[in-house]
Amino acid sequence: NRPTIFFNEPLADFSQDEQLEAMQEALQLVEDSLGEEYPLLINGKLIETRAKLTSRNPSHKKQVVGTSGSATKDHAVQAVEAAKRAFKSWSRMDPSLRAEYLEVIASEMRGRRYELAAWEVYECGKPWADADADVAEAIDFCMYYADQMRQLTQPLNADVDGEENSYHYRARGVAVVIAPWNFPLAILCGMTAAAMVTGNTVVMKPAEQSPVIAAKFMQIIRDAGVPDGVVNFLPGVGEDVGPVLVNHPDVDIIAFTGSRAVGLQINESAARTTPEQHSVRRVISEMGGKNAIIVDDDADLDEAVVGVIHSAFGYAGQKCSACSRVIVLEPIYDRFIDRLKEATESLVVAAVENPAAWMGPVIDEESLNRINDYIAIGNEEAKPLVAKEVGKLAGEGYFVGPHIFTDVDPGSRLAQHEIFGPVLAVMKVKTFEEALDIANNTEYALTGGVFSRSPQRLAKARAEMQVGNLYLNRGITGAVVQRHPFGGYKMSGIGSKAGGRDYLTQFMIPVSVCENT
Ligand code: NAD
Ligand code: ALA
Repeated sequence: NRPTIFFNEPLADFSQDEQLEAMQEALQLVEDSLGEEYPLLINGKLIETRAKLTSRNPSHKKQVVGTSGSATKDHAVQAVEAAKRAFKSWSRMDPSLRAEYLEVIASEMRGRRYELAAWEVYECGKPWADADADVAEAIDFCMYYADQMRQLTQPLNADVDGEENSYHYRARGVAVVIAPWNFPLAILCGMTAAAMVTGNTVVMKPAEQSPVIAAKFMQIIRDAGVPDGVVNFLPGVGEDVGPVLVNHPDVDIIAFTGSRAVGLQINESAARTTPEQHSVRRVISEMGGKNAIIVDDDADLDEAVVGVIHSAFGYAGQKCSACSRVIVLEPIYDRFIDRLKEATESLVVAAVENPAAWMGPVIDEESLNRINDYIAIGNEEAKPLVAKEVGKLAGEGYFVGPHIFTDVDPGSRLAQHEIFGPVLAVMKVKTFEEALDIANNTEYALTGGVFSRSPQRLAKARAEMQVGNLYLNRGITGAVVQRHPFGGYKMSGIGSKAGGRDYLTQFMIPVSVCENT
């Protein structure tokens, strides 16, 4: 079989003058282009809508980043019909040609890398390094899935005398991609690229909070020459257009990433069949997490503090992979929390156009209110350790400083609910076994980590920690395509792995052919 030819896109280094200046120029370019309109795109035609989605800069809530169309239920039906019409020729195209389209899309994103990152800074409040990593991951998804598709077309080599055998994959049909805002390019692009390269046609529904970056991605797909109808751009309100897409009889796959509530609802609706349906719908659902890091009594504290802080407060805790619980062994507890407190208090919270911003705002007012509600619960039910003020920033954007609570009851809301913000619950335990029990005592199973120098305890964590992505002696966010296939189980997902070798096969139907020769 042909070897894998894939290399991860290197990340930017903004300590280098050239890259710093490139990003500053890109931010200026984006600032000069704020406020534009982005219509729907169905079957290659731009469609204006009466209703609009207004995208705001979370760092400066009065600043409008852009306005997109907001699809109606009729538009959702039209988009599925367009995808259905485009399916025949796209699915019959040589898979290596479809792979080439992804490589062209990747190349265009590489060329516009700083600009795309700058849109994420403005639209999603991502600090520079996070925005850059998201663009790099989107490029990786395209390049990796292109390579994987070529791998999957390799012959089976299972002939015997008088019998020729082959095993090949067929596209399923129309794929609906429903994406979140927190990795606004990478996740949208990853699900779309996987659906496209496997021969499906796509209705692409971005999150309400990030339609502009999604429109930029749609434009890149068009510029790559992807035929009309293969990818249809349908920004809209999830509660309105989502159920129409999910229940449409001509939809064959739904690739969803987002909250547990919506993911479970989609799974349930998609499982219902009607006489008009021609296939059993496939759902790929990636949901939330309540991820824990265990700090063992022999852990390297320098590493553990940095790993916990990056995982808990990076992108203001708005990663499904973020650490929201830290479970610390008693002998090291006091020293660990003293250092955690000091380091957290020194984090720079600011508007993210500023390169010095370590942490920026949260995405919108609804998020801010939810996070503040949990902070109030923490103040009642646990002991506040850090409550960093944001001062005047609060009036300017959706800012909330990092918060840490100690003496958190492992069964409490603070320790069980996904807060999706910069709030960390600390728990003290006597034994490593107790730490594992608490770590596993959640409905989720997405990421988790252990800081320990003990090979026996690390081995125990490998065997017993219930997570899809386990990280030992490092932070628990920032999965890299191919190296760390990403995804959870239990209530975090159906067990699929974005950026992993099993991902593409979910989008296809395997067919075995045996010819008597
Ligand atoms: P969300 O569930 O609110 O929205 C996700 C998408 O679903 C959006 O496009 C939204 O418009 C759409 N939607 C909303 N209601 C719908 C409905 N009834 N039918 C169909 N679609 C509907 O999630 P979010 O706030 O955008 O993202 C944050 C959540 O995503 C967190 O829970 C986070 O953990 C999770 N997430 C998971 C992963 C992962 O890989 N496991 C990655 C990123 C984010
Ligand atoms: N893939 C993202 C991470 O690992 C969610 O942080």
